[in-house]
Amino acid sequence: MKLVIEYFGQTHDGDEVQGYLIENSSGLAVRLINYGAIVQSVKFPGKNGDQEEISLGFDRLEDYLHEHPYFGATIGRYGNRIARGEFALEGEAYKLAVNNGPNHLHGGLRGFDKVLWGSEESSTGEAASVRFNYSSPDGEEGYPGRLDTWVTFSLDEGNRFIIEYEARSSASTPVNLTNHTYWNLSGAGTGDILGHELTLVSESYLPVDQDLIPTGKMADVEGGPMDFRSPATVGGRIGEVEGGYDHCYVLGEQPSKEPRPAAILRDPLSGRCMRVSTTEPGLQLYTGNFLDGIKGSGGKVFERHGALCLEAQHFPDSPNRAEFPSTILSPGDTYRQVTVHEFSLP
Ligand code: BGC
Repeated sequence: MKLVIEYFGQTHDGDEVQGYLIENSSGLAVRLINYGAIVQSVKFPGKNGDQEEISLGFDRLEDYLHEHPYFGATIGRYGNRIARGEFALEGEAYKLAVNNGPNHLHGGLRGFDKVLWGSEESSTGEAASVRFNYSSPDGEEGYPGRLDTWVTFSLDEGNRFIIEYEARSSASTPVNLTNHTYWNLSGAGTGDILGHELTLVSESYLPVDQDLIPTGKMADVEGGPMDFRSPATVGGRIGEVEGGYDHCYVLGEQPSKEPRPAAILRDPLSGRCMRVSTTEPGLQLYTGNFLDGIKGSGGKVFERHGALCLEAQHFPDSPNRAEFPSTILSPGDTYRQVTVHEFSLP
């Protein structure tokens, strides 16, 4: 296992940002940065042996310091939306930062994707990892309690890229962490992902309103364009889904102790395949509907549907939905999530 730490840039406050390259002997290479605990690059060989970039990102720190579509970012305290940025907890009403129309999205104006994280690296013969930590102060973006958060990214010789999360809070608070990597298994910037073949281990999904807030219902995927229980191309029925896929699939009624199979994404062109398993009860399928020609790594241009995200998470707007699995972390308890990405060639 290779683990190399390199200077990546400087924030506007003058803080140094580091890049952490981890690579195994099969050519699976992940580069992380401690700004936003971001996955800056993922490379993996295709059937012709070429190690290619398969996630969207930027080459320079400067591009991460401006608004961007959360490329590779760690999202916190809350992945996806909380309606009107409001919720009530233990008799108190809370008002969060609103940054997506009337709603709170991905942790607010300065979420976990826009802060500098502490880091600690470790490496053995078989695996290497970087453990990031961030302590979110009481009241940050409107959330109660100080939240101490750890995110560990590991890579092993079995071509597994594992993300483990842990958090503890000084007061009850909603927590829903996720990672926002955009995947294009044919190669970032080489075209769209409509020909990728997707399987989702899910029987139902959460329908949303015009602001992408769940209506509270769970709908059966049976037979319609949302049904990926058997492998289907992403683009096959996308025209029947208004705006493209941007929905949370239900993996289970509650989180599980051990990761359970959630998705298989396969690119027939390159032969690359990624299997996702997670302890989370939901998986957000987002088909890059809002990508609009942003320029990324290597000068590549990322157009609509140029990549997709598979975000392991709890359900959006859970703090306002008693019927959804709870996202409330109480003091004394530990939030845990494990999500595994396993890569293979045919
Ligand atoms: C959400 C999209 C949102 C995107 C932001 C996804 O997780 O589901 O609605 O636009 O993140 O890049």
